[in-house]
Amino acid sequence: MSFGASFLGGANSRLLPVSIPLRFFLLGLVFQAAGWAVLLTNAADLAGFNGGLGPVLAAVHLLTLGVLTMTAMGASYQFLPIVTRQALMRFWPARLSFWLVAAGVIILAYAMARLWPFGLDLGAGLVAAGLLIFVILTGDNLRRASGVPVVAAHGWLALVALSAVVIAGFLLISDFRSGGLGDHQAVAIFHMVLAIFGFMGLFAVGFSYILVPMFALAHVDISRAAWAQFLLSVFAIIGFLLGVQTHRGPLMIASASAGFIAAAIYIWAMWTSLRAGMRKRLGVSFLLIRVSWGFLLVGVFLGGAMVANVPVPNTPALFGFVVLVGWLLTFLMGVLQRIMPFLASMHITDKTGKPPLLSSLTPKRPLLVHAAFHFLAVGLVSVGIVVNSAILIRFGAASGLVAVAAFAVFSGHILVQLRKR
Ligand code: HEM
Repeated sequence: MSFGASFLGGANSRLLPVSIPLRFFLLGLVFQAAGWAVLLTNAADLAGFNGGLGPVLAAVHLLTLGVLTMTAMGASYQFLPIVTRQALMRFWPARLSFWLVAAGVIILAYAMARLWPFGLDLGAGLVAAGLLIFVILTGDNLRRASGVPVVAAHGWLALVALSAVVIAGFLLISDFRSGGLGDHQAVAIFHMVLAIFGFMGLFAVGFSYILVPMFALAHVDISRAAWAQFLLSVFAIIGFLLGVQTHRGPLMIASASAGFIAAAIYIWAMWTSLRAGMRKRLGVSFLLIRVSWGFLLVGVFLGGAMVANVPVPNTPALFGFVVLVGWLLTFLMGVLQRIMPFLASMHITDKTGKPPLLSSLTPKRPLLVHAAFHFLAVGLVSVGIVVNSAILIRFGAASGLVAVAAFAVFSGHILVQLRKR
């Protein structure tokens, strides 16, 4: 089976109103700015962070729910119908899920920062309702996706993991309020590992098998590697969670090693697609995407090192930052700067009735500024965590804010072009 460019045939007929995916992407940008701002004002709390309520947990959920989940929702509402050749059931539930998750994230993050019990329940309830709609719509689409089994397998498991993450989230907040959870730490690790590698990780990896060959114009069969990576990832996630619940260190280390091999296979498959692709000059977006793959390997390695008690300073915070920001956020920003102009081009025609060139919808300077400051932010905050320096973390968070502002300029350019159509 070959992935990628072949999906585009007839894609126009399965396009959503452009306002639907864009609202998820743009609000994700606002939440990203909010996340960096919370870190900027609470920099001293990050290096020693090891779970628990407070501003850092609020920043974590602004990023995971507000940016990563929001963007995953917008992208899958738009791209799954193209990939599976099945139109979305209805548009209004997608819009409703946006408002529920948006309101829920604001309330939940505020309640986490301010230790507000009612807000925790209300925010979590709204988020869960919005995500339930997302799971139903996406599940319905995946159910009819027979042409891309390995992508569908990633999607299904990601949805199962998301459901388990939300249930564990409810257990954790009820435990903060009234206790009763036997082993809070084990449930917190279950929630975190499934959120990062089960839900967001499998989603990002599954989508890459479509998007990367599509952007590189590659016709290449990477399905065997994709299945090998998928099965190893499942073994790694389940094995790690079993190891945590039964306190078996060797099982956790073996699972982390399997996860590392799965990540390496995935990256190999991606390089194979890029090498086979007809489009070689992929620009700054693929610089971000390639660097994000490096952070994936570093992140899984750090996770294994943490379990094996290798003495890296402040490993829990460093691990969380490297996988959430270094890998997932960097990857997502790279993908976003490709799919936003691509989507816009499908809704705009020039005077001759043809779609505009993608390059005219992709202003380079804001993207270069974004990449420079994003990398600076990742570097400064990572070093700040290791050496326990609030000042470095503060400068890193400020750089992150500049990066978001540059990306907002890029997004503004696309919105202006869409308004002119
Ligand atoms: C209703 C939804 C959710 C609720 C109520 C919730 C609640 C929580 C709570 C209470 C913790 C702290 C655990 C502890 O240390 O005691 C936590 C941690 C975490 N959550 Fe969530 N969560 C939700 C959804 C999500 C989702 C969807 C994601 C990812 C997509 C996510 C990612 C994380 C991560 C990565 C951590 C670990 C933070 C750390 O300790 O480094 N959460 N969550």
